[in-house]
Amino acid sequence: MNMEVIEKYRITTVNIGFLLISTLFVSIGLMHLFFERKKEKKEEVRISLTPEDVKNVKESWAKAEPHAALAADIFYEKLFRDEEVKALFPEDMTDQKERLMKVLSMVVGSIEDISTLIPKLQHLGKIHYEKKVKEKQYDWVGNCLLETLIDALTKEVMTDAVVDSWLKTYAILAQTMKGDLYK
Ligand code: HEM
Repeated sequence: MNMEVIEKYRITTVNIGFLLISTLFVSIGLMHLFFERKKEKKEEVRISLTPEDVKNVKESWAKAEPHAALAADIFYEKLFRDEEVKALFPEDMTDQKERLMKVLSMVVGSIEDISTLIPKLQHLGKIHYEKKVKEKQYDWVGNCLLETLIDALTKEVMTDAVVDSWLKTYAILAQTMKGDLYK
């Protein structure tokens, strides 16, 4: 072998070595990003309710529940201010109003251990995803729900602390329903 061939062979070997090492580093980097992202996703769901939140939500819901039909009317009137959201729903809303109130009662009823509802809520979230509900529309629903509770129960019952407890409860609800569907 002459010197030129040996030199070419050496350069090729060095280049392949560099390529392999770079690939290894890039792969390690990507794996690191992947696992960090997974960790972030898990941490997002850790909102917890204090005993005070549980008490606030239970007591205020007990006052709203006897007027559930009226509350549902107010809620959907508020919700349908957004035409895009309105278009997702059927003309006859009788059943839908009942179903929503039932789910809310179920959530409040199990609020001490909301984790028992995870499978049901995940299933409900999947139904919504398949109906083309957008992620940002969950914020709009939460906003209308809170407005409804304040209108129906007044600021006397819906104090800042009670509103805060409802915001946390809704965030848990919405996050569980959305799960990883929009990621
Ligand atoms: C935590 C929030 C939510 C709760 C608890 C909830 C609750 C429910 C329930 C119980 C149903 C009936 C499901 C069935 O039995 O088939 C339903 C249906 C539906 N929801 Fe929601 N929902 C939530 C968020 C949203 C959002 C963000 C949207 C989008 C604007 C939305 C739009 C719909 C639509 C379009 C239907 C189907 C109506 C029909 O075709 O009859 N929901 N929801």
